Amino acid sequence: MSGRVRGKRFIVTGGARGMGASHARHLAEEGAAVVIGDVLDKEGMDLADELQADGLEVHYTYLDVTDEASWKAAVDGTVGQLGAIDGLVNNAGVTGIPGGPEAEGLDAWNATVSVNQTGAYLGLRAVVPHLRAAGGGAVVNVSSILGFIGDGDYFAYSATKGALRLMTRSAALKYAPDGIRVNSVCPGMVRTPMNDAEVDADGYVTNTPMRRMAEPVEVSKAVLFLLSDDASYITGSDLVIDGGYLAR
Ligand SMILES: NC(=O)c1ccc[n+]([C@@H]2O[C@H](COP(=O)([O-])OP(=O)(O)OC[C@H]3O[C@@H](n4cnc5c(N)ncnc54)[C@H](O)[C@@H]3O)[C@@H](O)[C@H]2O)c1
Repeated sequence: MSGRVRGKRFIVTGGARGMGASHARHLAEEGAAVVIGDVLDKEGMDLADELQADGLEVHYTYLDVTDEASWKAAVDGTVGQLGAIDGLVNNAGVTGIPGGPEAEGLDAWNATVSVNQTGAYLGLRAVVPHLRAAGGGAVVNVSSILGFIGDGDYFAYSATKGALRLMTRSAALKYAPDGIRVNSVCPGMVRTPMNDAEVDADGYVTNTPMRRMAEPVEVSKAVLFLLSDDASYITGSDLVIDGGYLAR
């Protein structure tokens, strides 16, 4: 590994499994110290143990991204442990209930918005002061191709992923003077637990020019790039990683 983020300290939300776990491993393999925050304590602690056994600096903390007090505890703990924070990956997300607005119901709508959108907002509130104190940093928001196109079934999900793209731009404008870059990654369908059951994988693959799903690490490489100094003049942008799906 080339150590492209050596010495940097990152928080990855929703890092106990799936893409977040891949981001944590990949960033640590490139020299970063990483704290994964999640509500899945057992999975998160097991993952941190596994990565530490591989010689990587990865720690787990409980973090419910919908809860401001939980953010404060996790961020204070991270600063206590690592000394400072140089970057944040707002990766935690849920798909919500399929079936459109009538099937979904207000509680499910609120739950999806609360994790996917409010979670990223609270993340900015909690972490930006520390990035500023560190002299700058980078944030990556995990949106989706469903932030560009509608989805009749995953109505709230698509709404939150679209919102994340504009939150990315607004935050990029707000924090550029502080040396803080804010970008989004927008994956197509990725092979993770999120897609194990409910999603029409065959239909997606058929409509994807590259005729396959992404592996999590293919998104992790984009996250690494955007957090690294290689992306020093990139802010407010969306990096689409979808095998050509949106190009059709
Ligand atoms: N898998 C895909 O095809 C795909 C495509 C585009 C975008 N995404 C996005 O990528 C991100 C990661 O998805 P994934 O596929 O790895 O899903 P996943 O379900 O495997 O992982 C999501 C993680 O978020 C955590 N999480 C949920 N609610 C939380 C909360 N309140 N606080 C903290 N953590 C919480 C979960 O415990 C889990 O570890 C999500 O934002 C998702 O919307 C996924």
